[in-house]
Amino acid sequence: MFELALAVKNGDRGSRDDVDLKELSETLMDGALVIVGCVVAAVVLCLVVRAFDLRWTWAFSPLPAAAFLFGFSPTLGIAAGACLVGAGALGFVRQRQDIERGGTEAQAARERPGPLGYLRGAIERRRWRRERVRGGRLALGQGPNGSVHTVPFGERQGTRAFIIGAPGSGKTVTLATHAVAYVDWGYPVISVDPKGDRDYCDQLRSAAERAGRPFYVWTPDGPAAYNPLGRGTPSEIADKALAGEVWTEPHYLRQAQRYLGLELQALRAVGEWPPTLRSISSHLNPERFDALIDRVEGELGKRLRDYLGGLSQRSRAELGGVRDRLAVLEESELGRWLEPRHDGTDIDLAAALAENAVVYFQLDADRFPLASQMVGASIVVDLVSLTGQLQGRAMPGLVIVDEFAAVAAEEISRLLSRSRSAGLSVLLATQAFADLSLARPGDSSESLRGQVLSHVDYLVAHRQSEPEAAELLGQMAGTKPAWSLAERVGTDKGPIWELKRDGTKRRTREFVRHPDEFKSLGTGRAIVIEPASPRLAERVQVWPA
Ligand SMILES: Nc1ncnc2c1ncn2[C@@H]1O[C@H](COP(=O)(O)OP(=O)(O)OP(=O)(O)O)[C@@H](O)[C@H]1O
Ligand SMILES: [Mg+2]
Repeated sequence: MFELALAVKNGDRGSRDDVDLKELSETLMDGALVIVGCVVAAVVLCLVVRAFDLRWTWAFSPLPAAAFLFGFSPTLGIAAGACLVGAGALGFVRQRQDIERGGTEAQAARERPGPLGYLRGAIERRRWRRERVRGGRLALGQGPNGSVHTVPFGERQGTRAFIIGAPGSGKTVTLATHAVAYVDWGYPVISVDPKGDRDYCDQLRSAAERAGRPFYVWTPDGPAAYNPLGRGTPSEIADKALAGEVWTEPHYLRQAQRYLGLELQALRAVGEWPPTLRSISSHLNPERFDALIDRVEGELGKRLRDYLGGLSQRSRAELGGVRDRLAVLEESELGRWLEPRHDGTDIDLAAALAENAVVYFQLDADRFPLASQMVGASIVVDLVSLTGQLQGRAMPGLVIVDEFAAVAAEEISRLLSRSRSAGLSVLLATQAFADLSLARPGDSSESLRGQVLSHVDYLVAHRQSEPEAAELLGQMAGTKPAWSLAERVGTDKGPIWELKRDGTKRRTREFVRHPDEFKSLGTGRAIVIEPASPRLAERVQVWPA
């Protein structure tokens, strides 16, 4: 009886122990599952934050939601909180590793925006989006941490900027952002577009309409006319007429310049002024040239007759090339749009600047390469002579020349140097530095590049396809102090875990913007370098106009 009672008692305890053990193992199992789930979730969250290029502190932003969850289910709340803290900690460690690696990875790590910076940036962005120009600065776009990036706006002294980027990288959109801001501010804008970008033209047109200002457009198909040879001194006009011609010998160029220059002096002396492409090319005919010179009196007439008398038959024949070229241009389908019509539709740059107009020249350089160079060069030379006539007065406004190396390479440095005193802003764009070398063949000193870069107040570099360009731009963006970590691993034979590691930390300098960064910029992104500013070169997502 007693034995039976004991057996029953023992059996009871055995089953209760079994129950306790089962409960314990279930609890442990649940706990382990929660911990594994938390670790996995933390790793995934950390990866998601990095994939969106955000700072590790973003992992903490849902903590208030975890606290709210705690009110309903403490276990879930604690698990969610632990997962967020874990993700943050993991992100912090990865960020430290990125920074220690240096170079572009460190740069990207430093620039990842945190939630507070982003909020501050959002407020700033709202303000700048409403008012794109403030305090002499123009909001160009936003930096990687959400802050607004501004560039100098040519309010008083004008600014000079250079935009460079591979095809399709976003140059024209950046030009449009500038152009619309200047129009909105009330300044005239003259834009030369050798490619004829329809969207860009439409943006300029609507900006002008919005501001209630005149909009003039010149295209090789009309209907407005622009006389590229109507302004300037005889030698300036001769240079414009010869722009774009390739000379095998400098001697031919000088001969043609002299011949044209003298013809223009004769035209001015007899009152056929301002000249046009038609009047110049028709007087290049030898009989008409002789007849023109006969009408010129005095010292000039004598000089012209001496010159003509001294010209050999061979020289006259060589000059036939100039005559033919101008005649071909004048007789081409666009020739009529280069002849003034005096019916009120002619484009006059001085008048356009005076009435704060917006002028768009669509050159179509693929169809008319020579004419494009002549018109492009003429616009730039006209602006140079207009700035010369100001005599200290300011001429605020913006001149934009897209693909400038192809249409006005030689004339641009004069405009850059003159524009400062005239208060005119100049914005130049090109696809590659190689275009600047091509524009001055045989010039190994890269003088055009040097002239342009020495004048610019800021440079907007979109994606680069040339490694040398990326290298040069990286150097222009400068360097900054950094730590470099050199680690030496011992070679003593022994198990791998016993390898000796010695680390030395050295102070060095690294690129503010590594050349590789210039090669991998996405469309619409650019690195903005402002040499005279204490602000370091920054990666910017340009805001379209
Ligand atoms: N800042 C930007 N924001 C949004 N989209 C952009 C931006 N910049 C460029 N894009 C897009 O990329 C396209 C090409 O840009 P864009 O015409 O400015 O290039 P580009 O450098 O001028 O090319 P090309 O050398 O051929 O003239 C645009 O039509 C637009 O869709
Ligand atoms: Mg373009």
